[in-house]
Order: sequence, then structure tokens, then C-alpha cells
Amino acid sequence: MFQAIRGTKDILPAESIYWQYIENILTDVSNRYGYQELRTPIFEKTEVFSRGIGDSTDIVNKEMYTFLDRGGESLTLRPEGTAGLVRSVLQNSLLQQSSILRLWYFGQYFRYERPQKGRLRQFHQYGAECIGSANPESDAEIILLASSIIKATGINDFKVLLNSLGNLESRKKYREELIKFLNSVKEKLSEDSLSRIDKNPLRVLDSKDKRDIEATADAPNILDFLDNSSRDHFDIVKKILIANGVQPVIQPRLVRGLDYYSHTVFEFQSDALGAQDSIGGGGRYDSLFEQLGGKPAQAVGFAMGIERLLLIIEHKALFPDLNSCPDIYIVTANETTLMSVNVISEILRKKNLKVITDLNRRSMKAQLREANKLNAKYTVIIGEEEEKKGVVQLKNMSTGEQSELNIASLNEYTFR
Ligand code: HAM
Repeated sequence: MFQAIRGTKDILPAESIYWQYIENILTDVSNRYGYQELRTPIFEKTEVFSRGIGDSTDIVNKEMYTFLDRGGESLTLRPEGTAGLVRSVLQNSLLQQSSILRLWYFGQYFRYERPQKGRLRQFHQYGAECIGSANPESDAEIILLASSIIKATGINDFKVLLNSLGNLESRKKYREELIKFLNSVKEKLSEDSLSRIDKNPLRVLDSKDKRDIEATADAPNILDFLDNSSRDHFDIVKKILIANGVQPVIQPRLVRGLDYYSHTVFEFQSDALGAQDSIGGGGRYDSLFEQLGGKPAQAVGFAMGIERLLLIIEHKALFPDLNSCPDIYIVTANETTLMSVNVISEILRKKNLKVITDLNRRSMKAQLREANKLNAKYTVIIGEEEEKKGVVQLKNMSTGEQSELNIASLNEYTFR
């Protein structure tokens, strides 16, 4: 028997009701913030990601599903949503139609990572991007939107880690200082971090390797390098969040794993997740549009892992009762009433009722057992006698009440 590919999962019917529940929350909260959905293809030219996310990142170096198509073109299954979305905004000249774009997306993403709880090779992300404003209120809007989604699921004890990478100039100064520092502790660093000193020194701060954590304990703090405008930007973001009841945890070592960030970066964390504790994250990215060949545009956004969000909701038992029972189970005597059953079921479905019929031509007893098992609210019983008289027996399964009803009056009947 075939098995699903390692790191991928079937979402079975018993789980899909929870996915639909979450997807409704995502759509609803996005609407309340005025965000519109944008759907991009699942694969793009490889360059969209290598240029967008950055050549020296783990995602581009180790995790992408890249292949040559039959025309010899290098394509990649999207590892994240932002680069493809920016490609689409540029290609469709969306910024010419509106000076601010508020966009959201939901779908499958692919990373060749070592699978474990909360980490898959095909996973789902919801993301939102606010494009066209350099102002800190748009950073705050995105963080508040993300918080609202998490809160709408009933989760309240998550952390919002916040940092600023500053603008290009202040980051450049910090980078130089950090490289000097890292060279001074070179002997103590892991091999991975050693190779990053010149290419991507900020990522060394993000390393989970014990040796790196110890060696960089006294590394210079990026927040000390912010110039006045970068500091003002960061302060306003913090103030808006606090005014709205979101208390950020300032985390100067938070640098994130993608190259396109500047100014605000943030991450949502939950203790319920174990090692993979990040529910979502994001930040401001003011240079990505140019990286992808467009005119400069300012933007900020985030994405969250939906499998991880579901894990927390399940862990905290926050799901409402979502099992929807049939309104009506139609019990029938035999093949002779088949036509009536199918006509009646269609009449009832048009009344917006959930109607189940027996497709295995089982005995009436077996059908009634099934109706009970499915917790049907009513059974509509139609035997040969009933069919001749043009009636059905209607049984309310919770009260046991039974009444005879004309088939012709079914359409008007109010099922409670
Ligand atoms: P990211 O931090 O790479 O950011 O991913 C966001 C979230 O996706 C993570 O916090 C995690 O919940 C989920 N995630 C990532 N990889 C996996 C995986 N292998 N299995 C399960 N869940 C995963 C981005 O993707 C950026 N595009 C966010 C962004 C949007 N920045 C600006 N705009």
C-alpha cells in the first residue's frame, strides 16, 4: 500500500471540520481589518524565492523543493507567501490601482525540513501583507490583526516578541560591529555560525546551538544602534500595541530567518507547542519590491502556521462542538419507495436541511439504528402504505413524538 510522503498529512473528515472552523475565523477577522484575499500559484520561478528570501538563508539553501520542468525551467514549490505575493502585486500593477493594499492569503507551503510535531514538509500558512505605507501604524495594524486571529480562537496566553532591525544605515553599522564581535569569539562558535559571519552575521544570534548562545551572550545589542528615526518608528509601534492591550516582549536577538526584513520584526510564541514554539511571525520589508524588479514600495506582513495554531487549540481544548448531526434521516421500506425517497430528500434539502438517505437498501430496523447512531434530529419514515396514501411518518428523535404528514405539506413544515 502507498503511504503519503514523509512530512505530509491527509486532513481526514473528522479533522476537516476544525480546518473549516479556523478558515472561517481567518476570513472573518481579515474582513474586519479590510484585508482582501489574493491567491497565487503554488509554484513560481525559483528566482522569485532565491532573490526575494535571500541566497544565504536556510530556506533557499536547504529547504526548497526545486525542480526543472519539461521545458528546462527551474521552478520551486512556494516555501512562503510573501515573495510570490509581491511578484503578483508587481505583475498586476495593483499598487497603481490603490495606494494601500491590504491582502491576505491561505494555502499550502513546502519546506524540506526534518518533520516533527508542528513541523511538516507540506504545511498551511495564513498570511497578511499591508503594502504602501512606511508608517509604524501599519506595522501595529498587522500585529493587531495577527493577535486578533489568535485571540478569536480562544488562545490568550501567547507571547508577542518584538524587535527592530532599524533602517538600512543603522543595520549596516550594527552589522559591522557584530562581525567584529563574532570574529573575536570565533573559536567558540559552531561551524554553521562560523560560515555565517560574513554572509549573514545577524542569523548567528538566532542559532539554537548551545555553543553559539554562550559565545554571543555579550554580543552588541541591535537596539543600541538604532538611529533617531528608526527608534521613533519602533516606539510608536510599541505604544499602539500597548494601548490595545498587546504587551510586547522586547527581544533584541530576534532576527528572523528571511533576508527581506528591516525595522520591525516580531514573532508569536506559545508554550503549548514545545520545540516548534513559533505560531507565526513577520516584519517590515521595504526592499523586497526592488529585489524583485519593481519600484520601491514599503510593506509589512506576517504569516502563521495553521497546523501549529490547531495544535494549540486542541491542546487547550478550545474547539467548540462542531459535529453537525443530520436534521433528517429518511427511512424507507424497500425498493418500491425509492423514487419517493429521492424526491422527498431533494424537497427537504432545498429547505436547507441536512438530509441522509440509506444507499445500501438495508432493513428498516438497520436504517433506524443508523439514524440513532448519527444522532439525526428527525426520521422521515416512508413505507408502501404511506406512499399509497401520499404521507410520511415524521418522528422527532429526541421527544419520540410521531405524526403523520402529507408529502405535499413537507415543504411548509417547520423542522425545529
Ligand atoms: P516564517 O517565520 O518562515 O515567515 O513562517 C511563518 C510561520 O509558518 C511559522 O511561524 C510557522 O508557524 C509556520 N511554519 C514555517 N515552516 C513550517 C513547517 N515546516 N511546518 C509547519 N509550520 C511551519 C514567513 O513565511 C514570512 N513569509 C512571514 C512574513 C509575511 N513576513 C512578512 N510577511
